[in-house]
Amino acid sequence: NLKIAVIGAGSTYTPELMNGFITRNKQLKVDSFYMMDIDKEKTEIVTGLGKRMLEANGMNSRVIITDNVEEAVEGADYILGQIRVGKLDARIRDEKIPLKYDLLGQETTGAGGFMKALRTIPVMMDIAKKIERLSPNAWFINFSNPSGIIAEALLNNTNVKMLGLCNAPINMIKRAKEMLPENVAKFDYDFVGLNHLFWLTALYADDKEILQNLFLGGYKNNSLKNIPEVVYDEELLKAIKGLPVSYLNYYYFKDKMIKKCKDADMTRGEECKVIEAELLELYKDTNLKEKPGVLDKRGGALYSEAAVSVVDAIENDRNEVHVVDVKNNGALSFMDKDDVIEAKCVINKNGATPLKLNDFNNDHIIGLMQGVKAFEKLTVKAGIEGDYTAALGALLTHPLIGDYSKAKDVLDEMLEANKEFLPQF
Ligand code: G6P
Ligand code: MN
Ligand code: MN
Repeated sequence: NLKIAVIGAGSTYTPELMNGFITRNKQLKVDSFYMMDIDKEKTEIVTGLGKRMLEANGMNSRVIITDNVEEAVEGADYILGQIRVGKLDARIRDEKIPLKYDLLGQETTGAGGFMKALRTIPVMMDIAKKIERLSPNAWFINFSNPSGIIAEALLNNTNVKMLGLCNAPINMIKRAKEMLPENVAKFDYDFVGLNHLFWLTALYADDKEILQNLFLGGYKNNSLKNIPEVVYDEELLKAIKGLPVSYLNYYYFKDKMIKKCKDADMTRGEECKVIEAELLELYKDTNLKEKPGVLDKRGGALYSEAAVSVVDAIENDRNEVHVVDVKNNGALSFMDKDDVIEAKCVINKNGATPLKLNDFNNDHIIGLMQGVKAFEKLTVKAGIEGDYTAALGALLTHPLIGDYSKAKDVLDEMLEANKEFLPQF
């Protein structure tokens, strides 16, 4: 019977996660959930609903609230990471400060995502060290953003058994399935990229590649609730030669998206604050015994499916294919072995092994991936060592930033605004 630790359990997404364990309660017998968070009040509310959900479904797992990482991870089988350092207020600053310099203000992409990484890396490194010491055999499955950069940091600088996770791939694959002709019995796809920077480069319907035909009608890129929709026309899709995740709207429509952010009444983080307040009110109602529909206003749709299906695949040695963030290890010939990529992986009790993508020669995608990976590597160096030169280098490397005056000004303002969360600087 399993001990599951949730780090950042006060998140209003937690009922979504509990739902995943309820759905798979036959395959995964959970003895205890250790719900760790530094925000006691929120955790009690969120966990209260979680407990009612378990009971309503006849599960008698113990639910323990703690603010102590060590207590939560010691002897755990699976540790799920979903922290937000500095909470939504810090996110809102990440969204607002870059806009002053005509740069994108987004939670995980560009300068905002970079800053989120600098705040999150020290905390995640600390958690990872505790896991190494107290629970070296546990699997650490992390959803905390920027998920790809956190995986890059942990997989290359600690010995924890970890995987990075995101719900965007599963949402996009679902979307792609809806685009199939009727009566297709067998479906598969080629997936290539990094976290929040990926493409589907082929769709196979009964072994026949059909993606290129789908370009004809254009593509409405709207598979995530938190990102404004953009329509891609045929010419653009032919140049890309793939279907991009919604986060790529920020790259292909950079100016338009920055303008959208500037013109909006509220940033996404400010919207999330409103949704969160509404959610917490609902969660307090002791008659509520299931995940409320309001949660679907958030971008994390299918988070539980992504997370718990991976736990199930490891625990029950299923050899299933899921998209997760792991070291490349030769799967992509154009990336280094130690580069963390987001890829289709075979998952079993030994973890996740990325599937080799042969003969991939899309120079546009290769170029963007290598550029953003260089940005990520520099960000990890800055995040771990507090190296200002690496931080500046990261921003100069990012395809959405580059310009020296903007990079330096935004960096200095963000470092100042985040001082209390940057022990490494
Ligand atoms: C997407 C991403 C997540 C992100 C979320 C934000 O689904 O994959 O990494 O956390 O959206 O949604 P929110 O509702 O917080 O804007
Ligand atoms: Mn994500
Ligand atoms: Mn490299």
